[in-house]
Amino acid sequence: MIEHKFAEDRLAALYDVFFPPRRRDDFAFYLPLVMSARAVLDVGCGTGALLRLARDAGHTGRLCGLDPAGGMLNQARQWSNIEWIHGDLSSVNWDQEFDLVVMTGHAFQELVADDEIREALAAIHSALVAGGRFVFETRNPLVRAWEHWATEYTAEVIDATGALVRCEYQVEMPIEGGVVRSISTFTSDGWIHPEVSRGALRLLDAPAVSSFLSSAGLTIEEQFGTWTGHPLTDTSPEIITVARKG
Ligand SMILES: C[S@@+](CC[C@H](N)C(=O)[O-])C[C@H]1O[C@@H](n2cnc3c(N)ncnc32)[C@H](O)[C@@H]1O
Repeated sequence: MIEHKFAEDRLAALYDVFFPPRRRDDFAFYLPLVMSARAVLDVGCGTGALLRLARDAGHTGRLCGLDPAGGMLNQARQWSNIEWIHGDLSSVNWDQEFDLVVMTGHAFQELVADDEIREALAAIHSALVAGGRFVFETRNPLVRAWEHWATEYTAEVIDATGALVRCEYQVEMPIEGGVVRSISTFTSDGWIHPEVSRGALRLLDAPAVSSFLSSAGLTIEEQFGTWTGHPLTDTSPEIITVARKG
């Protein structure tokens, strides 16, 4: 099980400050899907923000979040009315328990090797009831968004104690094998040392997404290129996929 860059409590506590859940366009897309499903598994749930929004909005069914980063799950566990599991898809064994499985915040891109993707999709297929849906997004490699990430993700926020925290984001060049590697350096005046975290994100193109899904017995039902439902094209920022189990 790989610990994520936000595994540590200090960084995990900052995640929803950098990415406020109620301002996220992706959650506006995912929340209605979660609300209309009886049992939902959020793989790579992070701080659990999506499931928390669903419970707060009156979801009465099963909501289960799975994440390998202990610090992220510690944030999520502040909400005890949701099932939180520390682990990844290799550490669970669900059989037809969920109507909907989601991977949000580009969590799917954390699956870097082909085998990791295949094993994750097999576990998702097994976890879904017949006719259940797997919904996730991955960034469209054709638009080369990583060229702008240093500016986009370098930012400052005020943490829960009122201190200013700065994140300096760098992409490591060259990009090899469709994997973007990055270094985020977090600093704040009161900290003894910076927190440095490394990330690796796989960028699959639409044909590769389609091929992995069909090999896993998942059929693409719909695909979008933006959170507001524009069709997928070569210039779309996202490859947002709704896939159904057989
Ligand atoms: C960018 S965060 C997104 C968190 C959350 N889904 C959201 O939308 O806010 C990516 C998450 O994927 C998790 N992750 C990393 N590797 C994973 C894996 N192999 N399986 C499941 N989750 C993983 C990380 O721990 C992290 O919490």
